[in-house]
Amino acid sequence: MDKFVIRGGKKLKGTVSVSGAKNASLALMPATLLNSGLNRIDNTPEVNDIFTMIKLLKQLGVESEFHNHSLLLNTSKITSQVAPYEHVKKMRASVYVLGPLLSRFGYAKVSMPGGCAWGPRPINLHLEAMKRLGAEISLEEGYIIARANKLKGAKIHFDIPSVGATGNALMAATLAKGTTLITNSAIEPEINQLCDYLNSMGARISGIGTTTLEIEGVDELFPKQIKNIPDRIEAGTLLIAAAITHSKISLANIEVQHLDSVLIKLEESGVKLLQENDCLVLDAENSSAKSIDVSTSVYPGFPTDMQAQWTAYMTLADSISTVTDTIYLDRFNHVPELNRLGANIELINNSAVIKGVKKLKGAKVMSTDLRASASLVLAGLAAEGTTEVLRIYHLDRGYQRIEEKLRALGADIERVATTEF
Ligand code: EPZ
Repeated sequence: MDKFVIRGGKKLKGTVSVSGAKNASLALMPATLLNSGLNRIDNTPEVNDIFTMIKLLKQLGVESEFHNHSLLLNTSKITSQVAPYEHVKKMRASVYVLGPLLSRFGYAKVSMPGGCAWGPRPINLHLEAMKRLGAEISLEEGYIIARANKLKGAKIHFDIPSVGATGNALMAATLAKGTTLITNSAIEPEINQLCDYLNSMGARISGIGTTTLEIEGVDELFPKQIKNIPDRIEAGTLLIAAAITHSKISLANIEVQHLDSVLIKLEESGVKLLQENDCLVLDAENSSAKSIDVSTSVYPGFPTDMQAQWTAYMTLADSISTVTDTIYLDRFNHVPELNRLGANIELINNSAVIKGVKKLKGAKVMSTDLRASASLVLAGLAAEGTTEVLRIYHLDRGYQRIEEKLRALGADIERVATTEF
């Protein structure tokens, strides 16, 4: 078990490169199950969720090689269509194998995802989409059993523009007989890239980037290579590391347009943003953070995956701000831990009301989930004294050795083995 030991108050400076997008890879990888052969996904982040997905795909018969962020997936010998509990319980995104397996093999047995640190995080929209495509769905001993001789194109409408359900429905529809129309689909960059990848394999998806996708089923898809997009949430997290420490840093390998909603809020809080060559520069050296309200929403709104990080930033802002999560109403496990660092946050339903304080003081805090742990690291960078962030295995799920990136920028942060839990 590791923890981070952070000695706060250090200024950051220099350039840091953003890794490939974890949530994009977690959709691209199962998409390869739709074809038979050697696929390559470049710019794949080396984070634990990726290794979990590699293990799950291996369980299905997919051979992989992963070097220098280039992931090879050989899908020519799929030997099983069962995604077992021990993999799915670790990572909800495992449910992404449902659509491809069902569409290519007519059968899938996928464990129901377990609980999350926050939620509920149901998968009803995934299952309803499969039923619309003609699948028979049953639940047996904690497993979803999905069967279909041949999926048939259908109209699917999502009451909630779910990222995962859109991805699953898209993948399932590519090999269905006939045309599928998905309305109120998610339009996150990760979904748009999945559509591009599927089309490069031979799928016929139109309406990409809009909330209405039309998929004309084809008989076969073919193995392809793709270069994954940068991780917009890691980029946003690193930008807030600079903002909260009143630093100036440059981010390389960033897709600025994927982060517009966050960049606008950062500028409103008083930081300067400019593009220099291919980098995005954030300059907060002469700014004191203004309290800015945020309410999360689906893309292109402010991402829920940046909510905890923004909350950490606002703890040291100049007045009172409200951060509301409309996607996950209880995604606030970071709040009591931030208050242990001296923040003044009150939870009212699905909003955090944050009264800015002059300073945070280092303490021992505990990670509870991926983005909550990121927010504790950010607060530790700005706090006076030493902050210890326990259970950083949560952080390792979605950030590639973030302590090395932060240390390279001048932060005093180190990963320490510990028996503390
Ligand atoms: C994806 O999760 C991301 N994960 C999440 O990032 C992200 O928080 C989320 O999208 C929202 O942007 C991956 O891409 C692997 P949803 P997903 O289905 O697909 C409800 C991170 O930190 N819903 O768009 O599971 C759901 O409860 C992770 O990197 C249903 O009601 O999210 C939520 O309120 C955490 N029924 C809303 O929709 C369903 O069948 C959005 O969820 C599915 C979802």
